[in-house]
Amino acid sequence: MQMKTQLLQISYKLNSIDKAVALFWKEVCNYRLFAFSGEMGAGKTTFLHYLCEMLHVEDVVSSPTFALINEYHYADGNADRIIYHMDWYRLKDAAEAINAGMEDCIDAAKDGRAICFIEWPEKALELLQPPYLWITIETTDPDQRTMTVELIS
Ligand SMILES: Nc1ncnc2c1ncn2[C@@H]1O[C@H](COP(=O)(O)OP(=O)(O)O)[C@@H](O)[C@H]1O
Ligand SMILES: [Mg+2]
Repeated sequence: MQMKTQLLQISYKLNSIDKAVALFWKEVCNYRLFAFSGEMGAGKTTFLHYLCEMLHVEDVVSSPTFALINEYHYADGNADRIIYHMDWYRLKDAAEAINAGMEDCIDAAKDGRAICFIEWPEKALELLQPPYLWITIETTDPDQRTMTVELIS
């Protein structure tokens, strides 16, 4: 049976997104698998962009709409950390996700070889086995977002 535990809820505007990102990472930096749920334009890519900026990711962080998977690197002390930023929006189902290499990325997260950020996780939920974080971003005002972070275990 799956258990859901709320870890965090934050509301933020773009001008304070750095604070939200810092609070978020302080709470969840020990996890590897992150599912970001929210409508088109909710702010999933924007949040990940600022998060990666805080981590000093060397690569340009943008929406993986065309490639489906973006790979980023950042230095954590002497360690080279890998991030897979995935967008499942254009996938039909889990079979398509597996064909596109999504499962390999998730396996890398399970082994501790990488971190996975997934936009539109609903498209292939079967690929996600606990433990993982389910993050919801809602538009609570045209310029304000509310993020809820739950641990699925
Ligand atoms: N507080 C906020 N947090 C994130 N994005 C915001 C916020 N306020 C306004 N926005 C705007 O909302 C849009 C979010 O787009 P994007 O991050 O691409 O969404 P998604 O990846 O969820 O489809 C951007 O144009 C961004 O400037
Ligand atoms: Mg996006």
